[in-house]
Amino acid sequence: MIQENISLKPYNTFGIDAVAKGLATFSNLEQLEEVLKEAEKRNYKSQLVLGGGSNILLTGDFNGLVLKNEIDGIEVVAEDADFIYVKGGAGEVWHHFVLHCLEKGYAGIENLSLIPGNIGASPMQNIGAYGVEIKDVFHQLEAYHIGDKAIQLFNTADCRFGYRESVFKNIYKGQYIILSVIYKLLKKPRFNTSYGAIQQELDNMGVKDLSIQAISQAVINIRSSKLPDWKLVGNAGSFFKNPTVDNNVAQKLKETFPKMVSFPFENGKTKLAAGWLIEQCGWKGYRKGDAGCYDKQALVLVNYGHATGAEIYAISEQIIQSVNEKFGVTLEREVNII
Ligand code: EPU
Repeated sequence: MIQENISLKPYNTFGIDAVAKGLATFSNLEQLEEVLKEAEKRNYKSQLVLGGGSNILLTGDFNGLVLKNEIDGIEVVAEDADFIYVKGGAGEVWHHFVLHCLEKGYAGIENLSLIPGNIGASPMQNIGAYGVEIKDVFHQLEAYHIGDKAIQLFNTADCRFGYRESVFKNIYKGQYIILSVIYKLLKKPRFNTSYGAIQQELDNMGVKDLSIQAISQAVINIRSSKLPDWKLVGNAGSFFKNPTVDNNVAQKLKETFPKMVSFPFENGKTKLAAGWLIEQCGWKGYRKGDAGCYDKQALVLVNYGHATGAEIYAISEQIIQSVNEKFGVTLEREVNII
């Protein structure tokens, strides 16, 4: 059933109070098809599929139909000597999925603990943190093509994963609705503690026997200390991507800014820490009204209560401009602007 003129405040982690012309939830394919049929009759101009609403900034009311994906369920669909294939409904909360897998001893996503959002959004932007990206453990997904009214399967190559990228975020944007995702998890863990802060946190915790549970707890501790809890302070995680520049450009910048934080990337490129660049421009802890730049991690923009999406967007524009002026580097937004 489609409801009209509904506030989207409970449905986006930024907590922006924008109104949707239409809103419908669906828990299975039949319901989705019913809603789409009804939507055709009502002639909505645009559609927006929402999972956890953790990677969007609503800059105004949405004059179309919002489809809220609530397909749930977690099940093992196959198994071989080394791997266990676990399928999750797109509407399952990602962190619940991680906790479920930890409990069963399935390894590979412990570094991705506490990332907000739902399973359906995880391949969309190839979520990643602390040295792991979902493309490393992805097996296959099932998606519904809105135009063709048909289900299609995508394997890893089909998704063309990149840094916070996939076909669903660019060439196929708005065309598919992800229904479920299968992850290929390890029966025997391969620990990844290469991301600096993890090892340090494990040491602080006094961990002697490494386990996926210990890594998950370390990640949870680090994330909680740096990233705001969206239930308390609205945000969508990193607002910008970490930019990549040619190695020679990075080298020149290093001469002028010896403390600049950077990491080797691929194809003769260097990745720069956007948080560092933004902090150097003086934005960390900035606040105007209820919109601001988080004081513990400059890459995160926040809504302290009643900020509008337009106010947050305006700060992001100013940040892009000042980073460009100081470093000659153009930041790209990671968050989808609606
Ligand atoms: N830094 C600063 N100042 C800041 C923030 C960061 O100097 O205000 C420096 C840190 O000191 C560190 C470096 O920048 O040397 C990297 O910082 P951090 O480890 O916090 O990670 P990040 O690069 O800022 C990325 C992801 C996060 C992910 C973390 C950990 C992107 C856009 N963001 O942030 O992902 O949790 O690494 O892997 O790639 C997200 O995508 O929403 C997200 C939170």
